[in-house]
Amino acid sequence: MSKKTIPFFNYPFVYNQYKEDVFPAMMKVVERGGFILQEELFEFEKEIAKFVGAKYAIGVANGTESMFIALLAAGIKPGDEVILASHTYIATAASAHFAGGLPVLVDCLPDHTIDPDSVKKAITSKTKFIMPTQLNGRVSNMDALQSIADEHGLTIIEDAAQALGAKFKGKCAGTFGLAGSVSLYPAKVLGCFGDGGLLFTNNDEMYVKMKQLRDHGRDDSGMVVTWGVNSRLDTLNAAVLLAKLRYYPKDMARRRSLAQIYQDRLGQIPQLHLPPAPNSDPNHYDIYQNYEIEADNRDALRIYLKENGVGTIIQWAGTPVHKFEKLGLPKITLPYTEKMFERCFLLPMNTSLADEDVHYICDQIEQFYKKG
Ligand SMILES: Cc1ncc(COP(=O)(O)O)c(C=O)c1O
Repeated sequence: MSKKTIPFFNYPFVYNQYKEDVFPAMMKVVERGGFILQEELFEFEKEIAKFVGAKYAIGVANGTESMFIALLAAGIKPGDEVILASHTYIATAASAHFAGGLPVLVDCLPDHTIDPDSVKKAITSKTKFIMPTQLNGRVSNMDALQSIADEHGLTIIEDAAQALGAKFKGKCAGTFGLAGSVSLYPAKVLGCFGDGGLLFTNNDEMYVKMKQLRDHGRDDSGMVVTWGVNSRLDTLNAAVLLAKLRYYPKDMARRRSLAQIYQDRLGQIPQLHLPPAPNSDPNHYDIYQNYEIEADNRDALRIYLKENGVGTIIQWAGTPVHKFEKLGLPKITLPYTEKMFERCFLLPMNTSLADEDVHYICDQIEQFYKKG
């Protein structure tokens, strides 16, 4: 078999894949000079809200400030505890920190989403928010989380950075809590040409507050009515996203078919633990932002894959949030997360991959374990 080179992610492909649509859309904005808060942004907000079934969408600068804005709009107070999974990007915890809250980190389940039992155990009299990360393009068990939130009077703000279009019981990520946040970073399933993010809400008051917060605290007339920040999604990126959005259902389906190949080829290898297969649970529609596996002898396997031209990564530089010692968070033990971080990594998963590429990756993994 000849050696292939399969990078973990193909950044030029973000532009090249749909350039016939994207380039003219960009030129329209550039030639008009319509860079900030212009029609393409409002149209994208309308279209993406319709796509996920939310009443409102707000384009913001990235998928980190979005969560900070949502927490502020939801009325977070200094010292409020915000429960989130330790298996998330530092951005989730940082948004709680910068909004004045205290991130409280909990464990995850074998599907790598937040563990509702671990959430329950972490609740104190100071707990005010649960921020589930809809990790790797899979929605957490929102029934379980909602019933915990109802029982204890907590507010859910979703970190759906990795899960645009993913569903739980037919409902899209980002539309469960009081607000939901999405990242439009280039490597995301719907990626723009730089940083970008979205907020969703069905709540009229949250919509007004979050829209003001993202634009210097100004209302629609330009009057400053509260303190705010500059966190607007550029119109140029909104035009790019609007052009790409037409292809989004096709892109999600393609990722699911690549996940099925991984499942078919690797599902019987006893040294591996794979993500849930695409059609394994009717409650979940996963979009496979990432294909995160657990593997025996992980580090050697990654070296073997690298030697054979396959790029892989470990999320968050291989460290769950509660293990970043310099942040001064309380020392805790999260058994599943810690065990998993000795074994997990991401295989390539994106629409630049041909079926043969995924078969090649699976061949290498098979060979690695056969060699022992
Ligand atoms: C789970 C998670 N939360 C938050 C973010 C932050 O998004 P952004 O990079 O757009 O700020 C990311 C981005 O990678 C993410 O994966």
